[in-house]
Amino acid sequence: MCSASSRPILPEPPEELKRLSNGLAERIGAKIKRGGPIPFSDYMEMALYDPHAGYYSAGLQKFGEGGDFVTAPQLGDVFARCLAKQITEIRDAIVDDCADKNGDWEIVEAGAGSGILAAELLKALQDGHAPSRYRILERSAHLRQVQKETLLKAVPQWMDRISWLDAPPESGWQGVFLANEVLDALTVERFCVGATQNNSAAIKRMCVGTGANGFKWHKGTFSEEVADQIQSRLSATGQFPATGYCSEINTRLPAWLMAVTEHLQKGSALFIDYGYTRREYYHPQRSDGTLVCHYRHRAHDDPFKWPGLTDISAFVDFTALAEAADFCGLEVSGYTTKSRRP
Ligand SMILES: C[S@@+](CC[C@H](N)C(=O)[O-])C[C@H]1O[C@@H](n2cnc3c(N)ncnc32)[C@H](O)[C@@H]1O
Repeated sequence: MCSASSRPILPEPPEELKRLSNGLAERIGAKIKRGGPIPFSDYMEMALYDPHAGYYSAGLQKFGEGGDFVTAPQLGDVFARCLAKQITEIRDAIVDDCADKNGDWEIVEAGAGSGILAAELLKALQDGHAPSRYRILERSAHLRQVQKETLLKAVPQWMDRISWLDAPPESGWQGVFLANEVLDALTVERFCVGATQNNSAAIKRMCVGTGANGFKWHKGTFSEEVADQIQSRLSATGQFPATGYCSEINTRLPAWLMAVTEHLQKGSALFIDYGYTRREYYHPQRSDGTLVCHYRHRAHDDPFKWPGLTDISAFVDFTALAEAADFCGLEVSGYTTKSRRP
């Protein structure tokens, strides 16, 4: 994170967007007024997913030149074609394993953004390798509409195989679960290391309260279980960070992964995201965590700036993802970076 003095200058939003954001800030403020400071995870949930003005719910452009950031699928079809190769291998293993060589298999994509990855994947897989179904698990009603439009334009011939899910699959299926840059959009808790008490550092839960000039950080407490979990993750670095160190933890990841893969009977789940292994993630030098906000292609560190107009994300602790996979009865079959050659 950068200090206040090195923060990028952000372009001023137009008045109508400021009104939208101010309305959301008022709703968050009212919640704080009713019950006191809220956990950062609750703030992030409202800022990103408030049904009227949340970043992913309001109908503003997010991706590409006129939006706030770019993801790999928007840069051309190379990413989708690489994934298609991997998916074809998974599909072959499923079908080879089936008595019926024409066995059904499908792709379930979470958080499909503009729908461009789904479109390019279906194009890349169409030569005899197309899935029997392509289901999209998307929280944002607005993005579902954008996805439908993208897919209708790009792959009208496959529309009868594409559908949208309101909740993770509830019955057995086989194929590929796919999530590109979704894990970093899941809500996280923020914590800071406090002064040592009874021989162990106090872990403070960072909550959001209100002050004279908008939202401000408030120190709260975690349950003993979460505080212990954080202590053990920080200890795993081999160098426990100093007082004042802050970072993030996604306490809901195992439950989310369980929900989305529970009924995957055969196949694989592919996650592509920004992140680090635990040692790097919680390295003492990463003393202000991994939270990053995007507004009009500027990365900044102030999640309280223009809620609803700003993307908020946190890097993924890949060790936690592997542990969550283990908890769900899955096996980690690979882990790599995009830059590594096969
Ligand atoms: C950063 S965007 C990535 C979009 C797309 N995968 C891409 O690469 O362009 C995050 C996406 O995840 C969706 N999302 C966030 N949380 C989700 C959840 N719990 N279930 C399904 N989708 C979710 C958002 O609405 C959005 O479509």
